[in-house]
This record gives sequence, C-alpha cells and structure tokens, in this order.
Amino acid sequence: MTTHDEPVSITPCPDGPLLVRGEIELRSADGTLIDPHRHTVALCRCGLSSIKPFCDGAHKTAGFRTEA
Ligand code: FES
Repeated sequence: MTTHDEPVSITPCPDGPLLVRGEIELRSADGTLIDPHRHTVALCRCGLSSIKPFCDGAHKTAGFRTEA
C-alpha cells in the first residue's frame, strides 16, 4: 500500500508506456487538472493513444519499440 509520504516512481515499460505510481498532479497542456481515477497510471510514450496522456494499448498493434 502506498501513502502520501512515499516517493513517486516512474517506470518505463519495455515497448510500452511509462508507469507512474504515487500521488501526482497530472495536468493537460493548458493547465487543466486531469483526474487519473487511480493511483497508478500508464502514460503513453508512443504517441498513438486515442486517450492521451494515457496509454490505450495502441503501442502493441503499432509495434512500438524502445531501446531498453
Ligand atoms: S504507449 Fe501505449 S498507446 Fe502509446
């Protein structure tokens, strides 16, 4: 279980999104607060998601590949 005192972690998934765990404040480009509705969020890094900034799994069908 994570508390507010635990550090935020960002973990890149191989060939996939960035998993962000912890209490964060997520905002759109215009500064609007985005409620992630969960404690761990997957942020798209392939650029193909239809629900940016979140990952929708499109990276899989697109064959997105990362170096690590
Ligand atoms: S990383 Fe999953 S849709 Fe972009």
